[in-house]
Amino acid sequence: DKGAYPFYMLKEIDEQPAVMRKLVQKYFDGDQPEIDNNLLKDMNDADHIYIIGAGTSYHAGLIGARMFEKLTGTPTTVHISSEFAYEQPLLSKKPFFIFLSQSGETADSREVLVHVNENKWPSLTITNVDKSTLSREATYTLLLYAGPEIAVASTKAYTAQIAVEAILAKALGEYKNISAAAEFDLKQQLGTIANGMQAITDSKDTLEAVATHYLSKPRNAFYIGRGIDWSVSLEAALKLKEISYVQAEGFASGELKHGTIALIEKGTPVIGIITQDRTAGLTRSNLEETESRGANTLTIVSRHLAKEDDTIVIPDVDELLTPLLSVVPAQLLAYYTSLGKGLDVDKPRNLAKSVTVQ
Ligand code: F6R
Repeated sequence: DKGAYPFYMLKEIDEQPAVMRKLVQKYFDGDQPEIDNNLLKDMNDADHIYIIGAGTSYHAGLIGARMFEKLTGTPTTVHISSEFAYEQPLLSKKPFFIFLSQSGETADSREVLVHVNENKWPSLTITNVDKSTLSREATYTLLLYAGPEIAVASTKAYTAQIAVEAILAKALGEYKNISAAAEFDLKQQLGTIANGMQAITDSKDTLEAVATHYLSKPRNAFYIGRGIDWSVSLEAALKLKEISYVQAEGFASGELKHGTIALIEKGTPVIGIITQDRTAGLTRSNLEETESRGANTLTIVSRHLAKEDDTIVIPDVDELLTPLLSVVPAQLLAYYTSLGKGLDVDKPRNLAKSVTVQ
């Protein structure tokens, strides 16, 4: 039931702080994450983690891979399930597979899992749906506890997937005695994030105004960023495409000058996501390059990196976890752009919630 909400998507965006708190409740015992020891043992035995997903789940995997590498020291790569199924890369000797799937029913991802099981490789499904196909067929399951996600455009499942990946990465890192994992105060960070998400969802009026002013007319828009901000750019652009039909793309901001900048014309919206100390200055100068060619630039910036003219300022959190906050304004911008155009936000054309064909 969507209650007083006009669309499920807005309700689900607003539920994200509660989902973060629920995950703390479900996965922590005191300050420590509690994860099945057999799962940690199997992951510890692996020499490479392969994350498999489609669409938004693939995007959540891009964030997770960085966490696994930084907190556990295990090389981790992320793969689009429909690609991996038919163009399998050369695998390491002891692979471990993580399937990310909100529905647990995505046929493209299942195609890979069938193959993984034929080879008796260990696997984990991270899903919102208990006893779903991918959950039943994988060796292990971790649940997202996000509650039913009804809107076709995924929001709370994306942030829940990232949070569960962080919890698992911390648990595995501690199992492997990696100091970066021990020092990572994830429980406290997730509390800060829940409050930060709340602050962002409380500023809906500003985000609606930005969407109406900058995004409702143009046919194209670009999100840019570097590193983890680039990964969020891909998800931010997907949200805008699928529900508002703006042709949006996410780019690595350093790549713009290698081709894409030719697309910039007067009034093209270019939104920079800036949350990382090392690359903030570079993304800012890439934004300026587009501005001098006529772009309407906007920014989603972490508070400690913010300047006076920044459009959307988000609270500070650990640099590995910034996607949990930077994606929220992008979700709301997509929502209000779609709403302003009078579209059916929850049921965009040509799309189904669960994609059970290849
Ligand atoms: C986008 C979206 C899709 C799904 C994709 C995978 O908002 O919802 O891109 O993320 O179809 O679905 P799951 O996660 O159910 O495997």
